[in-house]
Amino acid sequence: MAGEVWILGATGRVGRAAAARLADRGVDLVLVGRDRDSLQKVVPGQSKVIVANGVEQMTADIARERPAVVVNLLGRYGETAVPIARACMPGGHYVDLANDLAAFSQVFALHREAIDAGSTLITGAGFGVLATEALVIKLCEDRPTPERVRVDALASVATDAGVLGAALGATIVDVLVTGGRGYQDGRMVRARLGSGVRIHPLPDGQQVKSGVVPTGELLAAQRASGAPNVSATSALAPTSPVVRAVLPLFAVLLSIPGLRRLAVRRLAGVRVKAAPRPRTHSWGHAVITWPDGSTRKGWLRTDDAMDYTADVITETATRLGRGEGPAGVYTPAAAFGPDLAIAANGTFLLDQ
Ligand SMILES: NC(=O)c1ccc[n+]([C@@H]2O[C@H](COP(=O)([O-])OP(=O)(O)OC[C@H]3O[C@@H](n4cnc5c(N)ncnc54)[C@H](OP(=O)(O)O)[C@@H]3O)[C@@H](O)[C@H]2O)c1
Repeated sequence: MAGEVWILGATGRVGRAAAARLADRGVDLVLVGRDRDSLQKVVPGQSKVIVANGVEQMTADIARERPAVVVNLLGRYGETAVPIARACMPGGHYVDLANDLAAFSQVFALHREAIDAGSTLITGAGFGVLATEALVIKLCEDRPTPERVRVDALASVATDAGVLGAALGATIVDVLVTGGRGYQDGRMVRARLGSGVRIHPLPDGQQVKSGVVPTGELLAAQRASGAPNVSATSALAPTSPVVRAVLPLFAVLLSIPGLRRLAVRRLAGVRVKAAPRPRTHSWGHAVITWPDGSTRKGWLRTDDAMDYTADVITETATRLGRGEGPAGVYTPAAAFGPDLAIAANGTFLLDQ
């Protein structure tokens, strides 16, 4: 592997896990963040450390030092993804964990620029996008364009004790304001957040509920299949009828900038207790229907979705460091094929 791999946000939950995995692989690792002591505790003696406070300083450092790969785990991808991805070009590669429609669209808009620069930019390299798009690619292999695709991201995650944090607070507010989305007849249309509730009997005998959310999984499934009708649900969606009844009112209130800021601040400070993951496995699920009425279904099984996310980031960054990615902007399986999901410790159960 040639060159350094920089992790921005290395002191966070995914950052610490990915840094440990990349250090085990002997990668030339550089951890970037705002507190030297915290950075030095992540993988003691196995990495260099750069102290940088904020995106502007980080982009300047990247543009000057030219790392081979930059892993962006800072969150707030609508603000951080494009400037950091741009700083990697020409020649450097980029990967992030974005999963919202706005950030996805902004990064995809860099496709031509990335091809000209010989850089690979991967967005959405986490559990939800890979576990669903890998299935779609696998199930559609050697088949014509399907009529309808449905994907479900059914994460099971252990909770660490602490506060929710600003990144997650902002994501929750943005999801409430955006509302749900789906594709109908080739066009993206609005759908009510938490609608389309499905109760999934899982292959391991457990059960989980999911509902419509506005995620990158929707875009990735549409791009992977070319289907005109696509829906995407998540086990993290608000599916209770009482909560769904008040969501439209919340969406209106939270679109007022002052109230939005207040809500993000309040959510960021919410204390959560440590809890084990609610179900044994996390599952990606896809159901594909062709114009002749034939269907294929499949599952992608992993353990804790957060651990899987760290595995996906690690495998993706390693492949980028070896220069294996195509130039341009891609989601993870679109760049490296569906077997990336297996390399990251997932298991396909097809046609079940
Ligand atoms: N798509 C997916 O499947 C998926 C899965 C998991 C997570 N995510 C997303 O990925 C992101 C990272 O997740 P996480 O759980 O690791 O989050 P986290 O624990 O909150 O960590 C965030 C990291 O970013 C750093 N950071 C934030 N703002 C910064 C700034 N202005 N300047 C410098 N450093 C800054 C934090 O540094 P400090 O320690 O100094 O605060 C911390 O290291 C989040 O946005 C999360 O929503 C996506």
